[in-house]
Amino acid sequence: MIDEQIIEYDYETRVVDVERQTYDDVENILRPKSMEGYVGQEKVKDNLTVFMHAAKLRGESLDHVLLYGPPGLGKTTLAHIIASEMGTQIKVTSGPAIEKTGDLAAILSNLNDGDVLFIDEIHRLRHNIEEVLYPAMEDFSLDLILGKGPSARTVQIPLKKFTLIGATTKAGMLSSPLRDRFGVLLRLELYKIEELQEIAMRSSKTLGAEIDKDAALEIAKRSRGTPRIVNRLLKRVRDFSSVLGHETITLDDAKLALNRLDIDDLGLDTTDKKLLSSMIERFKGGPVGLETLAATVNEDANTLEDVYEPYLLQLGFIARTTRGRVCLKKAYEHLGYKVPKDLAEQPTLFD
Ligand SMILES: Nc1ncnc2c1ncn2[C@@H]1O[C@H](COP(=O)(O)OP(=O)(O)OP(=O)(O)O)[C@@H](O)[C@H]1O
Ligand SMILES: [Mg+2]
Repeated sequence: MIDEQIIEYDYETRVVDVERQTYDDVENILRPKSMEGYVGQEKVKDNLTVFMHAAKLRGESLDHVLLYGPPGLGKTTLAHIIASEMGTQIKVTSGPAIEKTGDLAAILSNLNDGDVLFIDEIHRLRHNIEEVLYPAMEDFSLDLILGKGPSARTVQIPLKKFTLIGATTKAGMLSSPLRDRFGVLLRLELYKIEELQEIAMRSSKTLGAEIDKDAALEIAKRSRGTPRIVNRLLKRVRDFSSVLGHETITLDDAKLALNRLDIDDLGLDTTDKKLLSSMIERFKGGPVGLETLAATVNEDANTLEDVYEPYLLQLGFIARTTRGRVCLKKAYEHLGYKVPKDLAEQPTLFD
């Protein structure tokens, strides 16, 4: 047994990323640098490879790409890989970081042919800034208004043929004029267990740690379909294993560490459990509105929707209906509640 005194971890009870981490050295080290190292998302990779190849054949820049899907699935990683495979430079910014139209104008006019401009959280661009982007994306031109009142005039400055890559967890919040200007829309899906296992094995290697296959599998099973969570859990498991003096991370190490972190065998953490049990106990399984649920578990509604829900929906534990969220049979069973007789099997019954 591990002595409580030796390990002084801050036992986070949340495995998912609530605060977006922009700078994390380990995260950067673990980022695959090429399409080959980018595990899974086969459809996205296949399509992108064709589009990139075609653009290269024609000697053109790649069409603008929108990457969307839950946090931690590899949007930022993929944007860097695209730039590297196209052999171009990447300039990184984010929706909330661009405050003035002049900031965007400066970024755009400094891009070279084929360069990638990566705008993270693109759904958070201010409206006036979005409007500068429209002609830039469509006609590669900057339309600037000089002066004020009756003497104001528009000047058009030609831009180089760049590629905009936008990333968002909320494609639905993008205005349609912006969405329509992307030629390539790619949705990243939660990863399969075997893919997550492969990521755990690769990341271990990069970190210089030996890991048994079944330990990697255990981490994969509890990572909610998300590579970022694989890497985070791997680091914690490795800590336990090192303190125990093991040279290789074993299945027992993985189980011990993950149980101690309160992550159950499906990867649910305390917030997920609180969410589900309050739906069951306080709201009789729903339907219950997102805002109400968020207040119940003391989370922000956006976080609940972006970070917690995708996995619970995929597990078939909850469903979204027009009247709110409902808890499904599998969630009752997993948490050890008696399934009510009148529980609708099909969530669509509520719609
Ligand atoms: N396909 C993949 N193969 C291997 N590792 C991956 C893959 N996708 C993501 N990762 C790992 O997961 C981490 C998180 O990925 P990334 O930062 O690209 O996610 P994101 O979708 O941009 O998240 P966010 O929405 O929070 O910005 C990366 O550091 C990388 O190590
Ligand atoms: Mg990102």
